[in-house]
Amino acid sequence: MYRTHTCGELRIENITNEVTLAGWVQRIRDLGAMTFIDLRDRYGITQLVVDENTPELVAKQLDELGREFVLQAKGMVRERSSKNKNIPTGEIEIALTELKVLSPSDVPPFTIQDDTDGGDELRMKYRYLDLRRSPVRDNLVLRARMAHAVRSYLNSKDFIETETPVLIKSTPEGARDFVVPSRMNPGEFYALPQSPQTFKQLLMVAGFDRYYQIVKCFRDEDLRADRQPEFTQIDCEMSFVEQKDVLEMFEGLTRHMFKEVLNVEVTEFPWMPYSEAMEKYGSDKPDTRFGMQISDISESVKGKGFGVFDSAEYIGAICATGCSEYTRKQLDSLTDWVKRPQIGGKGLAYIKCNTDGSLKSSVDKFYTEEDLKKIAEQVSAQAGDLILVMSGEKDKTLVALGSLRLEMGSQLGLRDKNTFKPLWVVDFPLLEWDEETKRFYAMHHPFTSPKPEDIALLDTDPGKVRANAYDLVINGVEIGGGSVRIYNPELQAKMFDKLGFTTEQAQAQFGFLMNAFKFGAPPHAGIAFGFDRLVSMFAGEETIRDVIAFPKNNSGRDVMIDSPSEIANEQLEELNIKLDLKEKK
Ligand code: AMO
Repeated sequence: MYRTHTCGELRIENITNEVTLAGWVQRIRDLGAMTFIDLRDRYGITQLVVDENTPELVAKQLDELGREFVLQAKGMVRERSSKNKNIPTGEIEIALTELKVLSPSDVPPFTIQDDTDGGDELRMKYRYLDLRRSPVRDNLVLRARMAHAVRSYLNSKDFIETETPVLIKSTPEGARDFVVPSRMNPGEFYALPQSPQTFKQLLMVAGFDRYYQIVKCFRDEDLRADRQPEFTQIDCEMSFVEQKDVLEMFEGLTRHMFKEVLNVEVTEFPWMPYSEAMEKYGSDKPDTRFGMQISDISESVKGKGFGVFDSAEYIGAICATGCSEYTRKQLDSLTDWVKRPQIGGKGLAYIKCNTDGSLKSSVDKFYTEEDLKKIAEQVSAQAGDLILVMSGEKDKTLVALGSLRLEMGSQLGLRDKNTFKPLWVVDFPLLEWDEETKRFYAMHHPFTSPKPEDIALLDTDPGKVRANAYDLVINGVEIGGGSVRIYNPELQAKMFDKLGFTTEQAQAQFGFLMNAFKFGAPPHAGIAFGFDRLVSMFAGEETIRDVIAFPKNNSGRDVMIDSPSEIANEQLEELNIKLDLKEKK
């Protein structure tokens, strides 16, 4: 037996017990007459002591030890003379009687403790060492608990956990596919699934009724803090349901997770139409932890001789509570902030509602005190507040104001990590016009059902058609998305037509699904949660990398195993991949 207890287990009640522990050397402190070794495993840290009573043979071994050596340590539990209240094992220590080095260690490239000195790239290269640190490991433990909570909830609701294939044909989620060459079918490729979308719909045709899977998905897209090329979804589908049934079921799952894992009761789950989210928050994923909604002040500011506003399609404002005393410097830096290319604002006007009741604006020349008062009333500004105004093309200005709103929310400390505000954003547009290719794209995916009352618009004004599609947004993060599906082959064919597919193209790409629908497709709907995003929110982390055991960096590389990497010529040949591709590199 390697150990009788773990390094996080022993307490004052265990005094005088003879125990054997195994673990890694966190650190060694040599105080002359005594030496302390902190022995660490997944469960905690226990202090080992070598003093004048320790057998000489053991004491001698100390010279050969170093950080991260793996030891097996035998000894007796005794009470510490100076206790450490910060750790659960802090009242005891082990008086060593036997010591065995199970495995030596090179000097680690960074210190393996909570506040490590290792930079990001180094820790990624030695991820297995980083995973020894408790903050990183705790995230993975949390992840496992969350996966367990998902399974227990969905199993209790009769969902069948089903695996779907990983070597498939391109799925239409809108990102680029990762492809895998087929040796046995020269010149042909599999695609890795961007999601199991079509398979879960086929499972509904098969009569599974309720399906789920915690599943890896692959998307070759630009990476950000909340995006990895391979990520995990909680993917679900249900038959004989309407939108309301799906939202209720997954509101239930979300509540269950919060309660089970964080012991947090989430009170409200409001629904908000996409159009309202855009008008009031300038985003399809509003952070509703704070107000500061956008007001359309176009009517009040136009026609007063200020050319910028007069010529703008839209003028909108937000009210930053208690910011009337912002200095010139602070306002300039906000102006610079909105002008950054990522935000794309042309400028920023402001009205200060001073605490003495006076109003002062950056566009005083054109507006009387009365005009400013009217605007202040419209945005519900009080004395002490700052009104920030942006103008331009409506859609772009709303998005820019939405970003400014988030920035102000952060500056004012209104985005508390421990407050959770979920929201269903519903009634997304079905189609999105792309100026570049001059065609419509499905905003969600081509299997999403239009709202029945909007179907007629498909022929007259396709851009106006709303979809039975929904996103679960929590604290401004898109946690999940789904839709009610089309199950009528004619309507599906019409959708493909609107998306610019010829009948032949649609048949070639999605024939298998359309054919399946000819054999009795039940009405069905579903959703997929971004599991990594949900875990990172629960863990209070800024990036999903921190909740993935072996993540990729921002260039999509795994720097630990050094992948992607070149492959041997023989392998390329076998796969029928032309060598000049490789030689180009
Ligand atoms: P969608 O494309 O909205 O829907 O994806 C569902 C959720 O997956 C998460 N997500 C990601 N997480 C990390 N890295 C990525 N690159 C990434 N891309 C997406 C998001 C998102 O909300 N098949 C449909 C679902 C359905 O209709 O049922 C789908 O995949 O949290």
